[in-house]
Amino acid sequence: MTARKKTLADLRSQRWFGATDLRSFGHRSRMLQMGYEREDFSDKPVIGIINTWSDINPCHQHFKARVEHVKRGVWQAGGFPIELPALSLSENFVKPTTMLYRNFLAMEVEELLRQHPVDGAVLMGGCDKTTPGTVMGAISMDLPFVYLPAGPMMRGHFGGTILGSGSDVWKYYAEKEAGTITTQQWNDMEAGIARSAGTCMTMGTASTMTSITEAMGLSLPGAASIPAADADHPRMAGACGRRIVEMVWEDLKPSDIIDRRSIDNALVVHNALAGSTNAMIHLVAMAGRAGFPVKLTEFDDFAQKVPVICNLRPSGQYLMEDFHIAGGIRALMLNLAPLLHLDARSVTGGTVGDGLAGIKVFNDDVIRPLDKPIVSLGGTAILYGNLAPDGCVIKPPAADPRFLNHTGPALVFDDYDAMSAAVNDLDLDVTPDHILVLRNAGPVGGPGMPEWGMLPLPKKLLRQGIRDMLRISDARMSGTSYGACILHVSPESAVGGPLAAVRNGDLITVNVAERKIHLHVDDAEIAARVKAFKGPDRAYPRGYNRLFAQHVRQAHEGADFDFLEGKGGIPEPEIH
Ligand code: FES
Repeated sequence: MTARKKTLADLRSQRWFGATDLRSFGHRSRMLQMGYEREDFSDKPVIGIINTWSDINPCHQHFKARVEHVKRGVWQAGGFPIELPALSLSENFVKPTTMLYRNFLAMEVEELLRQHPVDGAVLMGGCDKTTPGTVMGAISMDLPFVYLPAGPMMRGHFGGTILGSGSDVWKYYAEKEAGTITTQQWNDMEAGIARSAGTCMTMGTASTMTSITEAMGLSLPGAASIPAADADHPRMAGACGRRIVEMVWEDLKPSDIIDRRSIDNALVVHNALAGSTNAMIHLVAMAGRAGFPVKLTEFDDFAQKVPVICNLRPSGQYLMEDFHIAGGIRALMLNLAPLLHLDARSVTGGTVGDGLAGIKVFNDDVIRPLDKPIVSLGGTAILYGNLAPDGCVIKPPAADPRFLNHTGPALVFDDYDAMSAAVNDLDLDVTPDHILVLRNAGPVGGPGMPEWGMLPLPKKLLRQGIRDMLRISDARMSGTSYGACILHVSPESAVGGPLAAVRNGDLITVNVAERKIHLHVDDAEIAARVKAFKGPDRAYPRGYNRLFAQHVRQAHEGADFDFLEGKGGIPEPEIH
């Protein structure tokens, strides 16, 4: 039995249902209108279930059924569940990019929880931005919550070959462009790469974010690695429903769970996974909502002490289903125990360490011991220099080593369409030593910082057998991507960052060991070129785009809205 800190009278929802005034008559009568019995909703914690299901989100296709499993758990524990649909943010279909709407979802979740008679919440997300979006909003609202990840989809396959989401698309697209696979083979892959509901099954952004959210203590132990189609998944959904009711009585809020130890644990797990570069934006934003600023350099610092021990694509060999069978996220954290704060708190009411009791690693090729990593140290590097005064990001293990210390001439593109046309031109004046530069792809310029950072290689070079080049942009890159891609250049060109100054043929030096990125143009000339630069017109006359362009922060600051940062300060709604 849970240790209750709250009485019925303390419940937030009692402001709606527990009074005897005219307005509460309306609340109760309208619940009865929906066919509920008084016993259903009276004298119970009300649990809001934030459901990011939609008809056009294949990663959350099972949420219509899964929300019923959460509700079952809530009923079992003596709560009253209400489903609150929220923005679905399907990574595949939302244009120009889901990142434009992550903060929209965060606002929506915070306000959904604030405006309704809710005492606690289960957040259902998984497809990339839905994890940070829902978690950021719920942290800001600071009601008890549990995060339920969608879980990864089954492994893909084609002609006897196992296919991983994203990574194998990039790989085989390059082969198609090089003419080494047929259109029929490409079409067969299209039908075999995504075989069930669930999120991408490589260690892309989705599984990176669900894993680090669990590492922060915000999911029940083991939730992040359970495949969507596994019968364990509905059981986990039910467990979330039961647990959140207890959390309401215990008054266990995110502000009681998240502290600097939780953030450190997220950084450790992120590095051990060789996690998506997108986490460097999302974790900064999530931690910022909890009042714990994270600097970009911390990702580099942790990369110097945490080896990559999770052997999953795109950095390794296996897929999420293999990871789950090998013991999953808890087994990974068990191997990381010497580096984790095991005394950090969890939604279980206990510690992160408690959640690892009795766990074993069943395949130490998938989940390596610390002394047999797939990359010893340095999975992430943060570079600074006159081209990126506020930093930029590279994953050195994902790059051809010759580009880790490279000087070459820039080939610059101002927009994605121009770049796409140019790379298809077999007469393009480009060599393998060129450095491809794409600008106007940051938070304001994109807008929304699209995942364009793995710039496509010129067809001419692909046909010569070239499979990597140094690429620099103020964009993000999919967590399933790879290559010598320097991302998140901050500040971005659209707000006067020096990427705006680069011209074709300018020499750029990248030296990862020294953490440097340098444009060989003098400071006065850079300043003059930046001043003369005409970026895209992002002065929208109205609407969400206008709000976004005016308030979004830069990548190194988490790309949150300036008016959403910080904690608390918003009064409860008046009920009249
Ligand atoms: Fe949804 Fe990859 S498209 S997780």
